[in-house]
Amino acid sequence: MVDVDEFIDEKVTEIAEAVGDANAVIALSGGVDSSTAAALAYEAIGDQLTPVYVDTGLMRKGETEEIRETFDYMDSLRIVDARERFLDELEGVTDPEEKRHVIGEQFIREFETVARDVDADYLVQGTIYPDRIESEGTIKSHHNVGGLPEVVDFEGIVEPMRDLYKDEVREVARALDLDELVSERMPFPGPGLAVRIIGEVTEEKLDVARMANHVVEEELAEHEPWQALAAVLGKATGVKGDNRVHGWVVAVRSVESRDGMTARAQEVDWDTLQRIQSRITAGHDNVSRVVYDVTHKPPATIEYE
Ligand code: XMP
Repeated sequence: MVDVDEFIDEKVTEIAEAVGDANAVIALSGGVDSSTAAALAYEAIGDQLTPVYVDTGLMRKGETEEIRETFDYMDSLRIVDARERFLDELEGVTDPEEKRHVIGEQFIREFETVARDVDADYLVQGTIYPDRIESEGTIKSHHNVGGLPEVVDFEGIVEPMRDLYKDEVREVARALDLDELVSERMPFPGPGLAVRIIGEVTEEKLDVARMANHVVEEELAEHEPWQALAAVLGKATGVKGDNRVHGWVVAVRSVESRDGMTARAQEVDWDTLQRIQSRITAGHDNVSRVVYDVTHKPPATIEYE
């Protein structure tokens, strides 16, 4: 990207020309990519754009409220409370790809309802360059690429950031004056906490994952990782008070990366790790241990499923 202001002017014009007098929708996840794409498109076409935020129940702590506040200036913002529907659909689903599929399908259903309701002809997407590469290689099914266009019969798809890397997207976000909460936010996967839970997604595992991710993000912010996260692995024995418990094992992961395609596990000091451990084991009755993941990508991926 040569010049960020030039890029913005160019894309705003392109979006306005592409959409014309029609209506458009964008799935707003709160992540930097979709937020920046939404802000660009809103600048171009105003309330002809309906940003749709689906609360899947798989979001991080406080995320829905942050979205509501950050995008309050967009009158057309729609927030869909789909928490129960997602949990119902995920009941008994344990296979990682099946889980992604179920979430993707449900997401499409929720999104489609709004797209039809506002009579949208265009779909704006926050797809960036690494998403396209990983999808082409079918490393895993990303739910922010593909899927949506086939279901709703859109006249066109607008992907203003399809050639950008994440650090360039952040530059655009800053230039658009998006809240720091958004522009500096760590990447968060479309399927949300579900890919940080091994096996079936249950309310209890979600509670543990939400609490642990919050702790990890807070404690590791100053290490400036590309991503810091916590995942619920399985159960192991521990002792809490006078009782032996068979509780959740939480993995903590913090990685450095430029684009998410490869990553290095971060070296984190012992005191910080111990603080994380004690906050996470204290944060839920049923957590028995915390481990730190030292694996790079490859051979591991960043997320767990
Ligand atoms: P992995 O786990 O494949 O992740 O090393 C690479 C980067 O992509 C993010 N990720 C996703 N983002 N939808 C997304 O929007 C997805 O399905 C998805 N899966 C992984 C992950 O958080 C990391 O930044």
